[in-house]
Amino acid sequence: MPLPFSNKACFFTTALSSLLLLTACSGPIEDTLPGQPIKHRQEAFKEILRVFEPMGTALRTERYEAEPFERMASALVERRYGPWDYFREDSYQPPTRARQAVWSRADDFDAARLAFISATDALLESARTHDLSAVRPAYQEVEESCRQCHNDFRK
Ligand code: HEC
Repeated sequence: MPLPFSNKACFFTTALSSLLLLTACSGPIEDTLPGQPIKHRQEAFKEILRVFEPMGTALRTERYEAEPFERMASALVERRYGPWDYFREDSYQPPTRARQAVWSRADDFDAARLAFISATDALLESARTHDLSAVRPAYQEVEESCRQCHNDFRK
């Protein structure tokens, strides 16, 4: 015997509400700290990625154009200081992906930050030469500095 219409509707309502409940439970965790330092540093890293990624794509797909690339290298240098001041002492808690080592090995974190800063200097310098054979390894150096720091300091 087929289910009466009202039972079907009930089934769907239940399915729908459990779906909503699931969404509510697995939603993003908010940065509840005053001033939201975790949210701000994550956004600052995204700003860095927004210029860094297109540079990598241009190199990988052989679409390097000297002038736009130079502008992106400049934008990277402008954005490179964004995240660091937001790594406050009290900000090792959800939703951070930083490891505790950021604070317990502060000197090493600082060294990784400085390696990244100087690699971006070298990248901008090479971008100004408009010489692809200099740009490529300089880009890889910056990429390596991101990776090194993430290996040690990001979960
Ligand atoms: C000196 C260390 C360090 C360097 C250098 C570094 N990062 Fe990160 N990055 C981190 C840490 C730590 C986090 C985690 C931040 C958090 O969740 O609190 C992070 C997070 C991120 C995120 C995630 C943001 C989010 O929404 O969760 C992106 C994207 C990112 N980094 C990109 C980059 C890129 C691209 C580079 C290089 C051009 C780079 N990072 C260089 C340490 C670094």
